[in-house]
Amino acid sequence: MAIYDLTKTPADSYDTHTHLNDDKLFHDVPAYIGRAHEFRVMEMNIVGYDAQGNERALEIAQAYDNIYAVLGFQPEDTAEFDAAAAEKLEEQLQQQQVVGVGETGLDYYWDTVPRDVQVSAFKKHLALAKKYDLPVIIHNRDAFDDVYAILKESGVTKGVMHSFSGTPEQAMAFVELGMHISFSGVVTFKKAEDVRDAAKAVPLDRILVETDAPYLTPTPFRGRDNEPALVKYIVDSLAETLSLSATEVADATRKNAHRLFLNHE
Ligand code: NI
Repeated sequence: MAIYDLTKTPADSYDTHTHLNDDKLFHDVPAYIGRAHEFRVMEMNIVGYDAQGNERALEIAQAYDNIYAVLGFQPEDTAEFDAAAAEKLEEQLQQQQVVGVGETGLDYYWDTVPRDVQVSAFKKHLALAKKYDLPVIIHNRDAFDDVYAILKESGVTKGVMHSFSGTPEQAMAFVELGMHISFSGVVTFKKAEDVRDAAKAVPLDRILVETDAPYLTPTPFRGRDNEPALVKYIVDSLAETLSLSATEVADATRKNAHRLFLNHE
């Protein structure tokens, strides 16, 4: 199958969560950005996950227009998030082109790092988000109760539940805390009926789209590496789910991302 169908490309879209900083994609950044542009993915957030990922995210964001960096340590990498790493992160968050803190959160599925270490790193990220008035990108896997309680207690009301994969009730609990809900390729998976129901429950002005490339490749390309250009398959799937046009979904999610990350429409 041809990778892209230009005839179905909707309005410009904003991939709010992608990892061109990942080893799988970092070797060919200009090509991935060029391809994204060809398919009208004109803006993206390069999201950090560890020290090297954060360095690379900054490097890419500072080299290209309309590409931004979000910096943090994902739960699985919080073992290396010591005082020195926290200090360095705080310094990086104040640099040009940085629009958020993350990804951060809790992962009780892999459970590779003790939960108390994950929790303390998550709290530190939330405190930094608050201090610098930045939105936070949250990774939650099998940890809804703790993520919800810690987020609520932090007082942070600006951010994203990344690659949302819960129930409509869980989505709405986060929306009520002020969060946006970001949908990835998971929304295109046949079995993800719950996730599509969640998309129907969330107000359109709180929905974002993301690829999480190189992971979570949307249907019909599962099995190959994901890339930002494929965000249109998530837009298409949401459009079908919400009975809207792809252009309406691309426009709405792009504007939502502008408001949240760039402070304009
Ligand atoms: Ni990610």
